[in-house]
Amino acid sequence: MKKPCVLGIPSLFSFMILLSALLPLAPALQAPSSVRQNFPLITSPTSPVYLDSSATSQKPTFVMDKMREYEMTTNSNVHRGAHRLSREATDMYEAARDKLATFINAPSRRGVIFTSGATHSLNLLAKTLGPTLEDGDEIILSVMEHHSNIVPWQMLRDFGGVDVKIKWCNLDSEGGTLDYDHLATLVTPRTKVISIVHTSNTLGCTTDTKKIASIKADHAHPDCVYVVDGCQSLPHMKVDVQDMGCDFYVASSHKMCGPTGVGLLWGREELLDSLNPFFGGGEMIDEVTIEGSTYAALPGKFEAGTPCISQAIGFGFAIDYLNSIGGMDKVHDYEKKLGSYLHSKLSAVEGVKIYGPSNPEERSALCAFSVDGIHVSDIASFLDLENVAVRAGHHCTQPLHTYLGISHTARASCYVYNDEADVDIFVEKLRETIEFFKSTGS
Ligand SMILES: Cc1ncc(COP(=O)(O)O)c(C=O)c1O
Repeated sequence: MKKPCVLGIPSLFSFMILLSALLPLAPALQAPSSVRQNFPLITSPTSPVYLDSSATSQKPTFVMDKMREYEMTTNSNVHRGAHRLSREATDMYEAARDKLATFINAPSRRGVIFTSGATHSLNLLAKTLGPTLEDGDEIILSVMEHHSNIVPWQMLRDFGGVDVKIKWCNLDSEGGTLDYDHLATLVTPRTKVISIVHTSNTLGCTTDTKKIASIKADHAHPDCVYVVDGCQSLPHMKVDVQDMGCDFYVASSHKMCGPTGVGLLWGREELLDSLNPFFGGGEMIDEVTIEGSTYAALPGKFEAGTPCISQAIGFGFAIDYLNSIGGMDKVHDYEKKLGSYLHSKLSAVEGVKIYGPSNPEERSALCAFSVDGIHVSDIASFLDLENVAVRAGHHCTQPLHTYLGISHTARASCYVYNDEADVDIFVEKLRETIEFFKSTGS
């Protein structure tokens, strides 16, 4: 595959020309093996078989080159200086916001807030929604939430000065996905927040956002907001925040070919307008006097201080990259096939139990699993010795593990640069590891 863009050290002018020409030049989806060549960290002779993309994805050369180029040719603070570099940095930062708005089909760029990551976005929501809640109000979470979508709400309950109740939605009978019937029984006119993951980072199931939105509409308080944790969906499928029926959507760049340190909070504008600001400081104000301050309009109101400029710009280039390899429907189709392959190969290994939906059609391209009689940390350590990178632990879903009656799982998670050969090596090395433990009687 032709690299989307590998620049030398161009003048700023040639950089801008290339930038504007970038999208039309971007290649269509080619064989995954050619996509793979864009990721140097997984294609060198010593590279591991990288199956930990749910934790963080690798970055293509294109994104790394563009970020370096920004630092070398444009670096400046945004929204401040009247000088050329500041104007250009501001233009690139705001262009990244536009790319993100288009990528999620936001009705406008005003509801697209850059944060330091999904965790920041969820804390922002818990903190700013707190004052809108009253004693006795309810927050509904599911047992499969990531800690980032649990702890901020618990902190609101414990330190927010309001006596809210957190209610937990269970999984269906096979432990595969959300129990929507249970959700309908939990939601009441006191329910003011429903915050539920879109794709689970441990089970790999994807929740039905329209169903959840309709349960909210039928049973919840009219002011109830529906928050979607999209960390594991935005990197892998087309997301349309207008079609989903949610009020807020959060995600992180580093799970979708972009840099760490930047994430997304999308919210319906009227809601964001009505909330108090979160952090205070520069950029988020209209006017400051010694008596008090007035606040900037969206999106600036929620972006206090110097933002994550190069990271946000890198996030925008990650979106360009994903579009350049064919767009999110193609990414999703490819990952569906790879995910099914992973599931079927892993299911065939004796002693392995996979968590999440048994129907591969309902799964994303990840499998959290345990192995009879062998601790998953040993599995991950032995696989690491064989240069296969999987994660072992609770994956920041301790309540889910407790619910399932286990303490840890190992997890193999794929992205668009993985292929069947990666899965084959992983499964072969896993079999060898299991054989080794059996032979030593451990
Ligand atoms: C489902 C889910 N939610 C939230 C997060 C938190 O994301 P971050 O650490 O980028 O803030 C993650 C990260 O693994 C996740 O998988």
